[in-house]
Amino acid sequence: MIRTPETEQEWSAYYQLRYEILRAPWGQAPGSEKTLDEAAHQHFAFFNDNAEILGVGRLDILDNKKAQIRFMAVAADQQGKGIGKALMHEIEAVCEANGYLQIMLHAREVALPFYKKLGYQYIEKSHLLFDEIQHHLMSKQL
Ligand SMILES: CC(C)(COP(=O)(O)OP(=O)(O)OC[C@H]1O[C@@H](n2cnc3c(N)ncnc32)[C@H](O)[C@@H]1OP(=O)(O)O)[C@@H](O)C(=O)NCCC(=O)NCCS
Repeated sequence: MIRTPETEQEWSAYYQLRYEILRAPWGQAPGSEKTLDEAAHQHFAFFNDNAEILGVGRLDILDNKKAQIRFMAVAADQQGKGIGKALMHEIEAVCEANGYLQIMLHAREVALPFYKKLGYQYIEKSHLLFDEIQHHLMSKQL
């Protein structure tokens, strides 16, 4: 099931997964997984039948036509099982239902094939995170 975390415990698991996958491997401090404006965005968590969070993603609305997907992460031992794809499809469905026409994202180099498979077009090389993780701008018209 994919939905927004609700309880304090769910929110903690949500950010913990984001931290473990996207920050801890690069020696970043706990807390570095959050931005100052989390409350302004939409949050998606994939729950298994035991109510554990196995995947996460955030949707930022940029303007009345355009949205951005950020912080996509699936638990290390659950990758490659369709969880990331399910999250992306749910986020895209929400965007379509709300009339957004374009989704952009900055993909880590390792995730480029994942987003390409989901129909995202390569635009250009973007930023380098923590001096080593090359990102690439990608976009999809809905
Ligand atoms: C990238 C990530 C979110 C993808 O989620 P996932 O659950 O592992 O991916 P899925 O199992 O849903 O894969 C969906 C499709 O993409 C393909 N795919 C996923 N990762 C791939 C890769 N690195 N290379 C090639 N294909 C890939 C899968 O084979 C699958 O193809 P199919 O639909 O034909 O079966 C996840 O692996 C992850 O968290 N990686 C580490 C953190 C990260 O890099 N996040 C992205 C930040 S921009």
